[in-house]
Amino acid sequence: MTVSADLARGAEVLEFPQGFVWGTATASYQIEGATREGGRGPSIWDTFSATPGKVFQGHTGEVACDHYHRHRDDVALMASLGMSAYRFSVAWPRVQPSGSGPANPHGLDFYDRLVDDLHAAGITPIVTLYHWDLPQALEDRGGWTNRDTAERFAEYSAAVYRRLGDRVETWTTLNEPWCSAFLGYAAGIHAPGRTDVAASFAAAHHLLLGHGLATAELRALGAKQISITHALSPVRGSDPDAVAVPDGIMNRIFLDPVLRGVYPADVVARASRFTDWSFVRDGDLELISRPIDLLGVNYYNPTFTEPRPGEPANPVFPGSEGIGFPVPDGPKTAMGWPIEAAGLTELLVSLSRDYPGVPLMITENGAAFDDTLIGGRVDDRRRVEFLDAHFRAAHAAIEAGVDLRGYLVWSFLDNFEWAYGYDKRFGLVYVDYATQERVPKDSAKWYAEVIRRNGLA
Ligand code: FCB
Repeated sequence: MTVSADLARGAEVLEFPQGFVWGTATASYQIEGATREGGRGPSIWDTFSATPGKVFQGHTGEVACDHYHRHRDDVALMASLGMSAYRFSVAWPRVQPSGSGPANPHGLDFYDRLVDDLHAAGITPIVTLYHWDLPQALEDRGGWTNRDTAERFAEYSAAVYRRLGDRVETWTTLNEPWCSAFLGYAAGIHAPGRTDVAASFAAAHHLLLGHGLATAELRALGAKQISITHALSPVRGSDPDAVAVPDGIMNRIFLDPVLRGVYPADVVARASRFTDWSFVRDGDLELISRPIDLLGVNYYNPTFTEPRPGEPANPVFPGSEGIGFPVPDGPKTAMGWPIEAAGLTELLVSLSRDYPGVPLMITENGAAFDDTLIGGRVDDRRRVEFLDAHFRAAHAAIEAGVDLRGYLVWSFLDNFEWAYGYDKRFGLVYVDYATQERVPKDSAKWYAEVIRRNGLA
């Protein structure tokens, strides 16, 4: 049905601004497989997933969606669904198998072909330089707790830019440093699986420093658009302290240094029982706060809090003793995450109020459901409902004046969902892991229509 037919029927069409970017997102370790091909070195996720008990049923990214070999068909499928953009990440250990030194040309060749194929299909590539697959060799030298890793990240970023910079405009340095630092080094539920709170704050700082150093390199080399993507969650609750702790650790500790050039004073004070912050050196915050052109927003759900005396700290939020994280009644995804589209409007509006002047892009939003393939079809109407509600929430933010440039759905394909392995399906496209067959779910077809109309009927 065309937009005008809808209008004739009197339906309200919610149109997005002209040029609004619609696409999907993935990450290297979650889809590529081929972990030992093309000279790729081991990453912390190879090590972590091979460690018994770390990932659901011992799943690993060794084969994943075999995208490394099937990228041509995958791009063709994306094109058939009308995508205008594709956010993918580059695997650092493909480019620098041991985390430093000269670039491995075969590793870069893969992304070179991918970028060419995307352009040939009329799809804009959006590159993320780090989506969690740190070369293991760098972890062996302290990983993100070592300041040198930030320098190495800038060197690696420049190597990728030199190969792809003539065809890629948008460069995202990091994906969700909160997960890298606090899930990886404090809670130990992501690679490298460490449980050292002091180390997690050092990791957070060195990740941000890596962002700043890479931004300087990319800018000098001529990058058009530089961004960073954060996992952001509006924090709810009636007790200001209970709200401030997770809001500080998840949102403000990453937003403030990049966009205001300071660490939030309350976060610094609260964390002083874990660390003396001596890893922050003079000049670091100037580097970290170099201007960016776009802020990537990954939104999945709000965070709910309440005071709960005696409660031990939630390990992903160091310092959260005495705070409860109740999950409210109501609809949830297969991850158990509450579904609340209004949180997206709230988040976008508050970001543009609190950190004005930087355009926003939703670099991830989506949902896992227990999808089943029956008779060649995946009826995932709950995902359609989820996306419809969240697109409307994004539209409401635009109406409220937010400069939102695009929406990238997580994810293009079902894939390796980190500690949950292949058990959680986030894709618009179903992957039959036994055959690697791809089957667009009903949501993929619905999304293709949204893109075609640039809006919702
Ligand atoms: C985000 C990650 C992404 C995926 C989604 C569900 O935190 O960036 O890789 O796992 O969650």
